[in-house]
Parts: sequence; C-alpha cells; structure tokens
Amino acid sequence: MKNFEWHDDLDTGIELIDDQHKQYGRFANAFFKLCYNDRDPRPELRKAFDFLHAYAREHLTTEEALMEEYDYPQRAAHLERHDYLRKWIDDTHERLKETKQLSGDFLMKINYVLVEWFQEHIRGMDHRLTRYLRQVAAERNDSKLLRMIKGIFSVGDDVRKK
Ligand SMILES: [Fe+2]
Ligand SMILES: [Fe+2]
Repeated sequence: MKNFEWHDDLDTGIELIDDQHKQYGRFANAFFKLCYNDRDPRPELRKAFDFLHAYAREHLTTEEALMEEYDYPQRAAHLERHDYLRKWIDDTHERLKETKQLSGDFLMKINYVLVEWFQEHIRGMDHRLTRYLRQVAAERNDSKLLRMIKGIFSVGDDVRKK
C-alpha cells in the first residue's frame, strides 16, 4: 500500500486548493493505516471512508464552482473526470458497507485510485485549471482569486456557496 505523500509537483499555487488536497491526503492515509490492523478493521475502515467520501465530494464541488464562476474553457473534460471519481467513491462506499470480507485486491484498487489516480489528476487537470485561474487573477486583478492564491480565503467562504 502506498501512502499519499506530498511532492512539490503537486503544488498548484492556489492555497485553498492545495490545503484541500493535503487534507484529502491525510484522510486517505488515516484510512490506509487502519488496513494494517491485525484485528478486524472493517467498522473503522467504514467510518474512515465516510470522512473521505464527504471530503472528496466537497473538494470536487469547490473546484467545480470555480470553473463555473470563471468560465473555464476545459470544464466539460474536467467534470467528466470528477464524475468518474464521484461514482467510484460512491460505489466503493456502498461496497465497504456491505462487504463481509475485504480482499487484498479490493484494498489495492482502493489504494491505487485514492493515491495514484488522484495525484495524476492533480498533476494534469488540476494544474491546468489552477494555471488558468492564476492567469485570470492577474489579468483581471480579481481580488477574490488573488486572496485565494495568497491563502487568505479559507474553506467555507463563499466559493462553496454558489
Ligand atoms: Fe479536479
Ligand atoms: Fe483537486
């Protein structure tokens, strides 16, 4: 099992988004840690996945609100990948609730999507989105985006209320 480790190439330059990615990584690692327990970890695994499930959805919504607000041209393709992840997390959440025996293959697949898939998504699509947002911030001198880049904006501000 791989842990979600932070590398410099995951930095997007937008603190709000970086903070959410890091928090997601902490939830993912807390989940993996339980997989190493000797005793039956299923009840705790389910609880840990509940957090991850809610948090990942919240993060995707944050990015989507920004894409909409700032007319991101590659929005459709990015949304399509978010929908894939949302569906996979929902399905996995259900499967974890129902399953009596967790197989090694199932856990490896979970680990792959939560770490490798997610980091590739950051390096590709999220970087393209945040590059665009930084450019818009500079060109339009958009104070909301500029604040977000500097990290004054915190999770829970009006970015999510759209
Ligand atoms: Fe994304
Ligand atoms: Fe993201």
